Amino acid sequence: MRHMLLCLSSLLAACGSPAESAPSPAAAPPVQGPVATATATATATAPGAAARTPAVATRREAGEVNPRLLRRFKPVRDSLDVAGAPSSTALVDLGRMLFFDKRLSRNGDLACNSCHRLDHYGVDNEPTSPGANGARGRRNSPTVYNAAGHFTEFWDGRATNIEEQAKGPILNPGEMAMPSPAAVVARLQKITGYATAFHAAFPADTTPITYDNVGRAIGAFERGLVTPSRWDHYLAGDHDALTAQEVSGLKLFTDLGCMTCHTGEFVGGSMFQKVGAMSPWPNQADLGRYEVTKLDSDRMLFKVPSLRNIAKTAPYFHDGSAKTLEQAIEMMGRHQIGEELSPGDVAAIASWLGSLTGELPMSYIATPQLPAG
Ligand code: HEC
Ligand code: HEC
Repeated sequence: MRHMLLCLSSLLAACGSPAESAPSPAAAPPVQGPVATATATATATAPGAAARTPAVATRREAGEVNPRLLRRFKPVRDSLDVAGAPSSTALVDLGRMLFFDKRLSRNGDLACNSCHRLDHYGVDNEPTSPGANGARGRRNSPTVYNAAGHFTEFWDGRATNIEEQAKGPILNPGEMAMPSPAAVVARLQKITGYATAFHAAFPADTTPITYDNVGRAIGAFERGLVTPSRWDHYLAGDHDALTAQEVSGLKLFTDLGCMTCHTGEFVGGSMFQKVGAMSPWPNQADLGRYEVTKLDSDRMLFKVPSLRNIAKTAPYFHDGSAKTLEQAIEMMGRHQIGEELSPGDVAAIASWLGSLTGELPMSYIATPQLPAG
C-alpha cells in the first residue's frame, strides 16, 4: 500500500511497466514526474520537453540548484531516537557492548561489528559476507550508519525497525547462528557483568536479560550512528560546502530523476522500488520484496538504499555486483532511468556523492570493554 501511494504521488515512470514508463523518443526528457514539474515551474524558460537543456545550462551558469528540489532532501538529525522516547546512557552502553560481542554467535567468532565494521563506515567491503563456518550469505551487507532512520530495515523490508532487525542476525543460521532466543539469554546470564549492565539499562524490569531487550539495547546504540557531512552544511545554506564539480553532479542527479527514488534525509531509505525499472536487472536470482509478500507486483523490488557514505561502502547493490561507485552509477543510468551516462556525467555524480561521506563518531564507536566471564 505504502509503495502504491509513493508510486502514485511521485514515481510514475519508475513504477509502471517498462513499456508504459519508457519516455517516448520524441519527448525524451529523462526528467520524470514532479522533478520535471518542479524544474519547469522554477525556470519556465521553454515549454514542454525542450525545457531541459536550456534550463540546466542556465542554472549551471548561474551556479545555483533549484531550491524546490533541494527542499526534498533534508539535513540529517543528530540522533535517530524515536520522538518522545530518549534513551539512557546505560542503554546505549549496553547496546554498544552487545554490538561488539562475539559471544552472541554460536562459535564465538562473529559480532555485528564483523560484517558492519563501524570504523569502516558500517560495512565489510565484501560482495557478500562470510557467516557461521565461513559460508557466504547471498546479499551484500548494508551499512548500519543512519539505518535507524530508514522507513524499513533489510533490502526487502522484512523488519519494521532497527530493534526488531537486531534480533534477526543472531539467530540466522548463515550469520551468527545461535540456536534460539533462550540460548542467547542463557549465555548472557552466565556473564556476570551483563547482569549489572542489563539491570542499569532496564531498571524497571524484574528480569532484564531477555531477547527483546537485547534488540532494544542494540537498537538504542544504532540510533546514535549518524554521520553528518558536507552535504548537510550545503543544505543548511553554506553554498561553499560543495565544489563546482560536486554541484554539477548534484544537478545531474536531480535533473536525471535519480532523486525520484533517492530522496529525503538519507538520499534513499524511504521507499521500495523495482531494480530494473527501465531494463531488466542482469541478476534475477533474488526477487527481493516478493520473497516476503509473494505478491507478483513485488518482484525485484528492493529498498532504495541510502546514498550517505556511498563512496565508502563498495561493492554495491543487493548482490554486490558493482565493484566501483562509477560502475554502480552507470548501471543505475542504464537500468533505472534508461540512459547511457557519459564518463563525464558519471564522474560528476560520483564527485557529488563523495560529499555525502560523513564524519564517523569516533568516541561513540570506540571498542568498548566487554564484561568478562
Ligand atoms: C555475517 C554477516 C553479518 C552479521 C554478523 C550481522 N549482519 Fe547485519 N546484515 C548483514 C546482511 C547480509 C544484511 C542484509 C540482509 C538482507 O537484507 O536480507 C544485514 C542487514 C542489517 C541491517 C539493515 C540495514 C538496512 O539498510 O536495511 C542492520 C541494521 C543490521 N544488519 C544490523 C546488524 C546487527 C545489529 C547485527 C548484530 C546483532 C548484525 N547486523 C550482524 C550481514 C550481517
Ligand atoms: C526507479 C528508482 C531508482 C532510480 C530512478 C535510481 N535508483 Fe539508484 N537504486 C534504486 C534501487 C532499488 C537500488 C537498490 C538496487 C539493488 O541493490 O538491487 C539502488 C541502488 C543504487 C546505488 C547502490 C547503493 C548501494 O548501497 O549498493 C547507487 C550508487 C545508486 N542507486 C545511484 C543512483 C543514481 C546515480 C541514479 C540516477 C542515475 C539512481 N540511482 C537512480 C532505485 C533507483
